[in-house]
Amino acid sequence: MDKKSLRQEYVFEEISPDEQARRSSTFCDLLKKRRSVRDFSSRPVAEKIIEDLIISAGTAPSGANMQPWRFVVVTKPMIKKAIRIAAEKEEKLNYEQRFPQRWLDDLAHLGTTFSKPYLESAPVLIVIFKIDYGIDAGGQKIKHYYVNESVGIATGMLIAAIHNAGLVTVTHTPSPMKFLQEILKRPQNEKAFMLLPVGYPAAKATVPVLNKKKLDEIMVKNP
Ligand SMILES: Cc1cc2nc3c(=O)[nH]c(=O)nc-3n(C[C@H](O)[C@H](O)[C@H](O)COP(=O)(O)O)c2cc1C
Repeated sequence: MDKKSLRQEYVFEEISPDEQARRSSTFCDLLKKRRSVRDFSSRPVAEKIIEDLIISAGTAPSGANMQPWRFVVVTKPMIKKAIRIAAEKEEKLNYEQRFPQRWLDDLAHLGTTFSKPYLESAPVLIVIFKIDYGIDAGGQKIKHYYVNESVGIATGMLIAAIHNAGLVTVTHTPSPMKFLQEILKRPQNEKAFMLLPVGYPAAKATVPVLNKKKLDEIMVKNP
């Protein structure tokens, strides 16, 4: 059937203005409590929860609905260890040779180093890959649109879903990330985009004190 002619009614569930105000304020309060956590306990997370988190991320909008993402879930200690070794090798080079002084200065308040124990201690790693192009049954390339934007939105929704589920994560970008494609045996058209350890914070985990910009710094009205 012609794809263009397939339409269905949008099911709009109207809510009252009071309910709108309540929900948006509750959601805002929830998101205000999200922080990047880098100290994880090994407490496990149920597989069904991880699946629901990924289904949530997969509802994201994407250029021409190409859904150019893959979420690789790692729970096996051997694979987590291999990822930690490879990530720390890159991060050591980043911190000791590749990052310019300006970048190191900007990171200083976070207290991060090349050491990434959470890559082994977190019970689950979700590695997000962007799929640069699809491949059809005949081996022809299928164009994907706005890949970075689409995968960025899906990742943001995943981070919000993780927080909503009472779990924590940190957006880890151990650049360059090619080792993830190799360790996780992903095909040529899939490039590692971000790595999210998922789980519970370690007892007495700490986070750096930081401020978020106020509304009048981030919003411009009718310029
Ligand atoms: C694109 C991106 C890449 C990031 N890469 C790293 C990273 O490699 N390692 C890390 O510890 N934190 C990383 N972060 C987390 C930021 O440092 C963190 O979001 C920021 O300090 C604000 O803190 P918050 O998430 O607690 O609000 C990254 C965040 C983003 C959005």
